[in-house]
Formats: sequence, structure tokens, C-alpha cells
Amino acid sequence: MCGIIGYIGKNPERILLEGLKKVEYRGYDSAGMTVCRGGEFITYKEIGEVSSLASKVKLNEQFGLGIAHTRWATHGKISLENTHPHFSNNCDIALVHNGIIENFEQLREQLNLRKIECCGQTDSEVVAKMFDNLSISSLRRVLKNLVGSYAFVMLSKSGDYLYFAKNKSPLYLSKGDDCVIIASDPSCFVGYSKSYIELDDGDYGKISLKNTVIFNKNDEKINKEEKLLDFDFLSEDKSGYEHYMIKEIYQSRIVLENLIKKYQSVGLKSKLEEIKNFEFDRVYLVGCGTAYHAGLMGESFLRKSFNIDIFCEVASEFKNKNYSIDEKSLCIFISQSGETADTISALEYCKEKGGKIVAITNVEYSTIAKKAEIVLPIFAGQERAVASTKAYFAQCTLLFILTNYLKGESYEKPLKSLSHNIDFGDDNILKKIAKQICNYKNVFFIGRGNDFITAKEASLKLKEITYIFSSALPSGELKHGTLALVDENVLVIVVATDEKLFAKTINNVCEIRSRGGHLVLVTSLFVDSDVEKNFDSIIRITNLPNTLMPMQTILSLQKLAYFTALEKGNNPDKPRNLAKSVTVE
Ligand code: G6P
Repeated sequence: MCGIIGYIGKNPERILLEGLKKVEYRGYDSAGMTVCRGGEFITYKEIGEVSSLASKVKLNEQFGLGIAHTRWATHGKISLENTHPHFSNNCDIALVHNGIIENFEQLREQLNLRKIECCGQTDSEVVAKMFDNLSISSLRRVLKNLVGSYAFVMLSKSGDYLYFAKNKSPLYLSKGDDCVIIASDPSCFVGYSKSYIELDDGDYGKISLKNTVIFNKNDEKINKEEKLLDFDFLSEDKSGYEHYMIKEIYQSRIVLENLIKKYQSVGLKSKLEEIKNFEFDRVYLVGCGTAYHAGLMGESFLRKSFNIDIFCEVASEFKNKNYSIDEKSLCIFISQSGETADTISALEYCKEKGGKIVAITNVEYSTIAKKAEIVLPIFAGQERAVASTKAYFAQCTLLFILTNYLKGESYEKPLKSLSHNIDFGDDNILKKIAKQICNYKNVFFIGRGNDFITAKEASLKLKEITYIFSSALPSGELKHGTLALVDENVLVIVVATDEKLFAKTINNVCEIRSRGGHLVLVTSLFVDSDVEKNFDSIIRITNLPNTLMPMQTILSLQKLAYFTALEKGNNPDKPRNLAKSVTVE
């Protein structure tokens, strides 16, 4: 993944650092920057988060050109030599890269034949070493040799242009009053400009304060339309919360209001109507990570209402499954960022086979949104914490809206009732349980029906930010293997909000209890005292009709993961080894 930014103007160090902070969600293994002033490069590189780099960078108000990078390691270990920017052999050209160059080993061999050596192991450095001067023709020549995905920004010691190229990794340009910014995410432009240009795959060119030159993949010079920056959408402070994650969990309430309001509009209703009018005989829901779990919830909502084939699949496995897709297939791709490579790849596969492509995304300018025929935005506002919370809430809510619309039932009334009864759990109880969780090396989540899907998402949240091993399974599956692991060192968190399935789940609870396992119950139901005795603790949440419980139950469980991460001393916003936007397959 990685986040990149380029800048021309006054105060380059400060603005590059600000921008890096905004794209840090894309990776934070190491960070670096190069600024060119008076024909000389000043370079800084640090291992770890952008804050480590910021503590070393000497700010300078003077005009300069600069590029910067925050890395999520793919090729090559986390080290200073693998930290961007990388340099040409004569050290006159600096380059930052996001993406993966698939043929970099061959390219490196060709360089070696010319006695050009790389210092590190990255694919990106190989590209930097392929330049001996920086011009449109040298850029074009290098690009022709590359196979893979890239967003590049480059500068040379002698020029007043930043050079750029994009293929399958996001890249945007923007001109302010007296500055130029190029970045992986338009949020970097907020405060400096009111509009931006979105580059397409195959675009490349150069930009200075006075001049912008863009070519498309056919090497034709092109003009690109400027888009307005949506400032509200990009609002980004922590609003007094300690972390983005907790702020974003609480934002679910506003997100719900937003969805209810926005999906009353004629424009969005006409998109739902277009899906309704499409004569589909199969539905596919596809996503990764949390978005996949939202897809599972959508599958469950739709299956309960329609007697047709409905499948939800992890994006990275979609093409391996040989699903039959044709012009009667409704293919729904769920992605918060809209940039996840696995999801894009599955989308392209379905498109080729003639499926109707619908995107459920938070980013309307994203690749997935652009490739889809119909885009259903989730209006969750920018999500900064790596662990997705409000986006999951919004995706499930939107799938509820879609299901009800297709069935011809109102979604406003039930969602308003969710809004009035929304329950984020009791902080004291959640904090107490979070402390207990830290005593365990293994945690299991179990549930039946929709509660099993909630259990999967809750388990993912817990493991990704606390680093405690956690796994979710259907309550009934426990006895078919995993029960062998249960003893007094194991904690099982039981999600049980469906009255009809409760008694069976309690049988499984007894099986765990009699083997010494510890238990926490998450429920909205009345629990009699005999049953209560089985549990070390109970998280009680406000009851609602079954179809609304997935949105309600997850909120307390997201907070439970958050409080546990704090107990462990982890930064919940930036879990180790992960990144928010995963643009490699
Ligand atoms: C990464 C993130 C997850 C996210 C997944 C899918 O793994 O860390 O939080 O659920 O990507 O991302 P998307 O943007 O496609 O929803």
C-alpha cells in the first residue's frame, strides 16, 4: 500500500509532514522525505510512524519541491535502506512509489548488467535506478518496461517540476494559490485548494506552479476536469476523543441519521429502483475483512426475503470458486475505501462475465465506485482508524435498506427505532471485561444465525487491535473440534440476541462451563438466574427486532475490543502489520 505526497511551494517540510499524517492509514512501517532547495536534496528517513520522522525533520519556510512517503512493507524488510524516497544511480532523481512492480527482479538483473546496483530489496528502488535523467520521454520509456501497479511522484535536483504516473494505485493532483500538491488521497489538499484532478490508470505527466502536462495511456496529451473538494466529507479531527476508533464508533449514530436522510432523496431511491427493476436470478456479495462480514450480513438479510441463490464470498477467493456469473447476476462489491485490490480484481472478473455491478462504498471517487454501474454510498465520513467500525455499521444498515427496498417494505420506520434505541453498552462493564480479557491467550466468540456473523466481526476487531488470538465459530460447531481446546485458560464470548436460538446456545454454554471454560454473555434477552450462573459477566444491550440487532450488538463489541487494546497499552488506531487500504492482492 503506502501513502505518497509531493509538494511545490513554501514550507515544504511542514506541509509534507501534514500530508503524510493524512495518508498514514495506508501504512506506517517507516517514513521518509526529500526536499530540493537550491539544487540540493535534503533527505530524512525514519523507521516507524510519521511522528518519528516529524521529530527529526528541520522545518524551513523557504520555497522548495519535495516528495514524501509512508511505507507498508511488501518487498524488503522494514529498514532505512528500504524506506522511500529512492534515488537514481547518479543520486540526482528521487522517487516515491505506492504499488507493486511485478517484474522488478528481471529489471534489477538488467540494471546489474549495466553495473547499476540497488542498496535495498524494494521493487521501488529498481524503478528509481532506471532513470538517468527526468523528462517526459525518460518517464515514458521507464513506464513501458513496468508490469504491475504504481503511483509515482518524482523530482530532480535541477528541475522545477514534479513528475508523476498512475496505474492501479490512487493518485490525485491539486493546485492551490501558490502551491502544488500530488497525493494518494485528496484529504491532503484540504486547506490548500478547493479542487483537484483525479488521474486515471495509465496517466502520467509533470506539474509545476505554472504548468500541468498530462498524458493518457495512449501517450496523448489530455486535459482533465477539476473536481470540487467536499470539505464536510473530509472532516478529520478527533473531536476531543482519545483515538479515532472510539470517535468513529460513536459516529455510528450520526451515520445512521445521515443514511436515513440521504436515502429519502429521489436520486438515491432511483438507484435502488434501478436494482429492483433489474431482473436478477442470483446475487453475489463480495468484500474483504470487515466489508466481507457486512456482506455476510447482507446475504442473511436477502436470503430471508428472497428465494434465489445468494452467495457471499471473500474477494481474494472469488475467482477461485468458479461461480456462474452472467447478465442475470447482481454483483455487489462492498469496500469502505473503494481501493482494495482483491475486491477490484473480483469486480473486474464479474464485469467481464456480464454481471450487473453495484458498489457499496464510503468513497465516491474511488476506483471501485468508478468501475461500478450503480454506486450506493454509505455516507460514513472519512474513517481514520485502521479497524473499521462506523463503516461496518453503515454497510450493514445500507444492506438492510436495500433488502427492505427490494421487498417493498419501509426501512425508515425500523431505522428510526434503531436510532432512538441505539445502545453503545455500559462503559464500566465493558472496561471490567476488557481487563479480564487481557488474562487470556485464547478467546473464542460463538453465536448462531446473525449473531455468528456479529461474532466473526467482533473477533476480528479484538484480534486486530489487541493481538490476542481470537476466533469465531457457530455455537453448534464448537463440539466438532474446538471444544478440545477448552479449559480454564480459555474465554468464550457468547453472542445471543435471538430468542428462538437462545436455548440451543445455552446447551453449548453448559458444555464449555463443564470443561472449566470462562464465559461472557452478550445479550438483549431476559436471562433467568439459573442461566446467568454460567457466565462470569454479562453485557446487556437494548433489545430490538431481530433484523436490527446486528447493527446494535456490534457497537458494544467494538468498544470491548477498543478498551482491551487500551488495557494492553496498544494504539488502537494503528495496529501493527496492518493498513487501512490494502491495494495489493
Ligand atoms: C483492510 C482493513 C480492514 C478492512 C479491509 C477491507 O484489511 O484493515 O479494516 O475491512 O481492508 O477494506 P475495504 O476498504 O475494502 O472495506
